Amino acid sequence: MIEATAIARANIAFAKYWGKSDGSRNLPAVPSISLTLDALETRTTVRFAEGEAGPDEVTMDGSAAPAAVRQRVSAFLDLLRRRAGRSGRAVVSTANTFPTGAGLASSASGFAAIALAASRAIGLSLDAAELSDLARRGSASAARSIFGGFVELPAASAGTDFLAASPLGATDFWDLAVVVAVADARKEIGSTEGMQRTEATSPYYAAWIETARTEAAAIRAAVLRRSFASLGESAERSALRMHAAAMAASPAVLYWAGATVEAIRAVRRMRDEGIETYFTIDAGPHVKALCRPEDAPEVARRLGLVAGIIRTIVARPGRGAELVEENRGRSSR
Ligand code: PMV
Repeated sequence: MIEATAIARANIAFAKYWGKSDGSRNLPAVPSISLTLDALETRTTVRFAEGEAGPDEVTMDGSAAPAAVRQRVSAFLDLLRRRAGRSGRAVVSTANTFPTGAGLASSASGFAAIALAASRAIGLSLDAAELSDLARRGSASAARSIFGGFVELPAASAGTDFLAASPLGATDFWDLAVVVAVADARKEIGSTEGMQRTEATSPYYAAWIETARTEAAAIRAAVLRRSFASLGESAERSALRMHAAAMAASPAVLYWAGATVEAIRAVRRMRDEGIETYFTIDAGPHVKALCRPEDAPEVARRLGLVAGIIRTIVARPGRGAELVEENRGRSSR
């Protein structure tokens, strides 16, 4: 048996990925740019039992994972079993330091961690680009969590076989803070379903695709120039346009709760008062506020006062996925 453990961190996209050019290959239709965060970690251990028949076992935070999660993880592990030419069930155990299934990008850190741990456990030694391409097949945002700091994932045309993210800008991290305002509401529609419905029914999908490219280019330039205001303004536009396109789908894809709107308003009020902070929202009700590290305690305090915000988490730029343990001693090959 070979066992490996990896840690990966969530990321928050400033240029949002929303929409696929190829669902079967999980290819994004728009480029996205994110920041990997230190405070939101997933730790995953994978053990392959060579030749042992039976379903994969997946444990999340100590309990058996729901069937849908197990199926998604098994389908992902099948990619690796095919690639390595090996068979046998896997035992996967994963733990998060933050609430899952709530739009806090657990699939990003989750699939980045499992891509690294499972590839090592099955005996493959993939480089960072190969790991990113692999993680993308589990969840496109996971391709970005392989790397630390600012990361870019390009769009791809249908049929492309290999698509990896890559770090954007200098390796010494631009020291920013992101305050996550956790709302007392759950994510009701998975990202894949939300994207499919937006593409199929929203009259604003085409406009989203067109403007997303321009906004990603502006965000790229802002990151490279380290222009805080221009990064924040573009990030707000990217998030609002993504949500506007989703809300216009039929039935509507509405991720916002009352607390989401109130938190957005709190961010705008702080800005009016001279605290430079900008919001972004993923496929869930939580608001993430970009700010300077010295303003983070006050931004967190103010967001914590918003009705319906139950918790705030202050995050800073985080590192990419890391292998923390590998045990090849008891191989049964
Ligand atoms: O990687 P997925 O399928 O969970 O989609 C992520 C979508 C957003 O979080 C809304 C945007 C993004 O770029 O992370």
